[in-house]
Amino acid sequence: MPAASPARRPRVVLGVAGGIAAYKAVEVLRQLTESGHDVRVVPTDSALRFVGEPTWAALSGHPVSTGVWAGAAEVAHVSLGREADLVLVVPATADLLARAATGRADDLLTATLLTARCPVVFAPAMHTEMWEHPATRANVGTLRARGCVVIDPAVGRLTGADSGAGRLPAPAEIAALARAVLARAGSAANANGTGLAAGLMPDLTGYRFVISAGGTREHLDPVRFLGNSSSGRQGYALARAALSRGARVVVVAANVALPEVAGAHTVRVVSAVQLRAAVHAEAATAHVVIMAAAVADFRPVTRAAHKIKKSDGDPEPVALVRNPDILAELVAARQPGQLLVGFAAETGGPGADLLDLGREKLVRKGADLLVVNQVGDGLGFEVEDNAAVVLGSDGTETVIGRTSKDLLSHRVLDLVTARLAPADGSVIAVSDSTRR
Ligand SMILES: Cc1cc2nc3c(=O)[nH]c(=O)nc-3n(C[C@H](O)[C@H](O)[C@H](O)COP(=O)(O)O)c2cc1C
Repeated sequence: MPAASPARRPRVVLGVAGGIAAYKAVEVLRQLTESGHDVRVVPTDSALRFVGEPTWAALSGHPVSTGVWAGAAEVAHVSLGREADLVLVVPATADLLARAATGRADDLLTATLLTARCPVVFAPAMHTEMWEHPATRANVGTLRARGCVVIDPAVGRLTGADSGAGRLPAPAEIAALARAVLARAGSAANANGTGLAAGLMPDLTGYRFVISAGGTREHLDPVRFLGNSSSGRQGYALARAALSRGARVVVVAANVALPEVAGAHTVRVVSAVQLRAAVHAEAATAHVVIMAAAVADFRPVTRAAHKIKKSDGDPEPVALVRNPDILAELVAARQPGQLLVGFAAETGGPGADLLDLGREKLVRKGADLLVVNQVGDGLGFEVEDNAAVVLGSDGTETVIGRTSKDLLSHRVLDLVTARLAPADGSVIAVSDSTRR
């Protein structure tokens, strides 16, 4: 987990509303303080019925109050919001979303939400019926339209034996999303030599992204496959970065062992053919498709129904057949205004310049952007850092030096954002109903 710089600890207000998942916010608090963030917890009165004040105070190292009357001399209902770099509400109840959407200021958390000028992220959790109710949908739509990030809850086990949409995503993933929001602000601040750029608001609200991640497996038999070392970290970091900027994100994950990105809808696939079907199905309504998965170029012609045995005799050479070129197919089926981004993980090699390979690939595929990254030597697969050159179909070349996959993702998204048609001017309709 990357630690925040001790010189200027990013300030996070962690709002906690009164839902059963309030206990999970304790872990979010823990994760953020351990990565060096200065966290002020602002629970609602109802939240304190689930987890008591001493827990929040002891773990954050700050006093905790729910109302505007305690310590009135400090005018906390104004100062907390003004000074925050991020306000994160975990869990956001149906009631809290309603109060925030209507601009109520009847406790410290809602007052803080009105005074905050930094990014605001809500992580809702409630029963499916509450989440799908038109009143909650309208409140979520209002908050998103105002520039707040309201992530979709996960689908899974709810309070009792029931399950459905409304479960709080994993606390560690919520903390990772918070760090992605702050990473963007932090990098902009470093670029212009100021403090944290609290003014960096979500710029991808209304856009729908499809991001492939991981590496495909092409099975020879039920247990053996041709695969690659892609962990899915870069694709997941891109998903997190897009979500932290307000986008709705579908991740098509090929054999990724990481926890699912909070707020994303994840579709799991194994082979290139499955990945192709999932990406095409989702791309029909996407403004941006980013192909960050390492997709096998070839697959075995046949897949044995049973495990190939040693006793079957000397092995036959494996006959391979070419897999479909998914990026080229997406280009051919491109929706008006849709942006297509490819990744080219290359090792270079004798007589093969990385960028020449990339330029040739960009032209051959017809994508808008191609992120060329060298893999191996501690870069690319299965590591935290990455470096890349982003080639544009307009002839641009943007060098991104070695950095975290989170920051590299934001740099790539900056290039995407600069090329996007306005969300509401696009022919691709994105409704804010219960569909993802
Ligand atoms: C056991 C229990 C669990 C609850 N869980 C949730 C929940 O997960 N999500 C939700 O929106 N409300 C939940 N509620 C209802 C809220 O506590 C109630 O709407 C309250 O007014 C919320 O206040 P607040 O939003 O100010 O924190 C729960 C209530 C009880 C008694």
